[in-house]
Amino acid sequence: MIGVGYVGLCTAVGFASKGYSVTASDSATEKVAKVLDGIPPFHEPGLQEMLKKSIRNGLLQCLVNGTEEAVLKTDITFVAVGTPSKPDGSIDLQFVEAAAHDIGKAIKQKNEYHLIAVKSTVIPGTTQNIIKPILENESGKKCGQDFGLCMNPEFLRQGSALADTSNPDRIVMGGNDKKSTATIENLYKNFYAPKVPPIIRTSLTTAELIKYASNAMLATKISSINTIANICEKIPGADVKAVAEAMGLDKRIGPLFLDAGLGYGGSCFPKDIKALIACSKAFGYTPELLESVEAINKTQPLKAVQFCRELLGNLEGKHIAILGLAFKPDTDDMREARVVPIVNQLLKEGASVTAYDPIAMPVAKTIFQSKIQYAPSAINCLKNTDCCIIVTEWAEFKKLTPEDFTKNMKQPNLIDGRRIYNPETFRKKMKFAAIGLGN
Ligand code: UGA
Repeated sequence: MIGVGYVGLCTAVGFASKGYSVTASDSATEKVAKVLDGIPPFHEPGLQEMLKKSIRNGLLQCLVNGTEEAVLKTDITFVAVGTPSKPDGSIDLQFVEAAAHDIGKAIKQKNEYHLIAVKSTVIPGTTQNIIKPILENESGKKCGQDFGLCMNPEFLRQGSALADTSNPDRIVMGGNDKKSTATIENLYKNFYAPKVPPIIRTSLTTAELIKYASNAMLATKISSINTIANICEKIPGADVKAVAEAMGLDKRIGPLFLDAGLGYGGSCFPKDIKALIACSKAFGYTPELLESVEAINKTQPLKAVQFCRELLGNLEGKHIAILGLAFKPDTDDMREARVVPIVNQLLKEGASVTAYDPIAMPVAKTIFQSKIQYAPSAINCLKNTDCCIIVTEWAEFKKLTPEDFTKNMKQPNLIDGRRIYNPETFRKKMKFAAIGLGN
């Protein structure tokens, strides 16, 4: 497993937990040291226990810059390195290319057949036109004959990564050739036996596009329901929550990813939508729908600040409580977290901010440093504030009662950015605004 980020580590631990011997490699010394100590470098429910077990029973090894050694010791190599965005939004393939060079060098030294499966999210054409030539040039061997190549995208979500790994909706296998596809298919059939998920066999390029198309559709659902939410807010008596519930019962629409809120964040949707737009434009087509999805998502978090202004007037000197910093619950990841533009705007308008998150506080401190205050608990965060914004829907925030707000805040103004409270109950006790709720 090349790369022990979310995808790499969760997949590696998943294989090790089923008895496979896994050798992982990563260039980040600190990350590898943590993994070897049985400490995941990021928060993921259930991962620590499984990781500790895999390290203890010797089924998971982790090396620093050990790609060549890992390839020599194993039969199949998964590439799960990061594919960040360049400043113009297009994909940065430097880590994928570096991994391909190292793997190619190792294959040169091997006599046995070796399969390479790309899990990193890469734009259509990358595996065929960039990775394959690097592997062939470095190894001096022929793809499809001496070694195999697959594109096997990953669909796991942060916060439920282990469950998603052990129970995926589908497995997508883009294969360079029949032997490559058969090799990875056998691996997955053994891994998932007796309940093998649906397997979709495609070309390398189509597999790459399936990943982007899936994330683009999910992001489109979110921006779509946020658009309905924005319409609801203009119409007295309208409520996006009821609209979404009813829409979701239509089998053609489905109930998932219809939670209106402050928009999508994280390391995947924002980056992948940008990369797909850039890739599509490079092929000569401007995907206007995706540009709109992105534009809607950019303005959506700032709605929280607009609500603040509506409730408090001028924000100069006002004290705002922020509950939730992570980009979603059950993670400490703050990449593209919605809270960042919200806090920046609040500070710009002269407000002071106190924030609390069950686990993302250490990460938040590296981002906001001393620009905001940090509270040790949700209740403490509310003390003497003029307005509270729910930014992330952590389970513990759902338990807060109207009295928790009225007793602790200077003036009880609440903005439900993730629709976790019953408006009827809260409106009776305080000034309450929520995404997608008409007056
Ligand atoms: C997403 C996809 O869901 C995974 O299938 C994919 O494998 C992954 O990206 C990836 O490309 O690696 P993830 O970013 O972990 O997974 O999290 P999601 O649960 O999809 O949430 C993304 C963002 O959308 C969060 O900020 C969340 O709050 C927001 N969201 C989600 C909404 O605003 N409304 C919803 O109804 C659902």
